[in-house]
Amino acid sequence: MLEVNGLHVRYTATHAVKGVSFEVSENEVVCLLGPNGAGKTSILRSISQLAYCDGTIRYDGDDVAGIGTPELGRRGLIHVPEGRHVFPTLTVHENLRIGEIARAGRAAKYSLDDVYDLFPKLTEMRKRRGFALSGGEQQMVALGRALIAAPRLLMLDEPSLGLAPAVVSAVYKALAEVATETPILLVEQNTTDALSLSHRGYVLAEGHIVMSGDCTDLSDRSSIMASYLGQSDVENS
Ligand SMILES: Nc1ncnc2c1ncn2[C@@H]1O[C@H](COP(=O)(O)OP(=O)(O)OP(=O)(O)O)[C@@H](O)[C@H]1O
Ligand SMILES: [Mg+2]
Repeated sequence: MLEVNGLHVRYTATHAVKGVSFEVSENEVVCLLGPNGAGKTSILRSISQLAYCDGTIRYDGDDVAGIGTPELGRRGLIHVPEGRHVFPTLTVHENLRIGEIARAGRAAKYSLDDVYDLFPKLTEMRKRRGFALSGGEQQMVALGRALIAAPRLLMLDEPSLGLAPAVVSAVYKALAEVATETPILLVEQNTTDALSLSHRGYVLAEGHIVMSGDCTDLSDRSSIMASYLGQSDVENS
C-alpha cells in the first residue's frame, strides 16, 4: 500500500535522507526507528508531500508527487505529526470532529463513541479546550482525530514523545486495537513499545537504513540496534 524507493531529502545545509527504500503492506504495522536527526520526520513529511524530496513514493500504486497533500488526506493517508497540533481554542469534541473533514465523505471506520471508548480519559474532558490539555491528552486527541478521519494508512510521528510511562501505555494499548484493522507506519525512538506493536521495522542512522527485519529478529539483535540508536541497551520485547 506504500512503496518508498530511493528517497532523498536535502535541506540547504543537510542531506537528511540518503536513498531510503521500504514498504508497508495492507494489514501491516511497520516502524522506523532512529535517534534524533536520523531523518524519520523528513521521511513522513516526504510521504505526505510536505517536504521536497527525490525518489519515488507510491501510495496505493500512485505516485504521491502527482497527488498532493490535501488529496492524499482525502484518500485516507492520515499523518499525525510530531507535536500533535491540537487546535487550542476548540474543545476536545470539536477537535475530534475536525477528523470528519479529513474523512471527506469516505465511510467512517471509527465513530466518536469508538474514540471515547479507546481513550476513556477524553470522555470526561470532551468540553475542555485544547490549550488546557496535558501533552498526553493532546496526543490522545490527535490520535482520536486521525481515527475519525478513517485512515487507510495511519502515519504516526513519535506518539510517545515526552509522555509519562502510564500515558505511553494507554496510547500503545489503544494503538494495539487500532492495528488490528488499520495499517500503521510508526516513527519512534521508544524502541520497546514500537517493536512490540509492529510486524516489521527499519533502523535509521544518519539518513540511511542500517538494519531491517521482523520485529522479533530486531529484538533479538537488540545490542546492535542499541548501538545505532545511541542507547545503552534495548530491552527484548
Ligand atoms: N526544515 C528543515 N530545514 C533544514 N534542515 C532540516 C529541516 N528539517 C529537518 N532538518 C534536518 O534534517 C535532519 C533530519 O531531521 P528529521 O527531523 O527528519 O529527523 P528525526 O529523525 O525526525 O529527528 P527527531 O527524532 O529529533 O525528531 C536533521 O539534521 C535536521 O536538522
Ligand atoms: Mg522527528
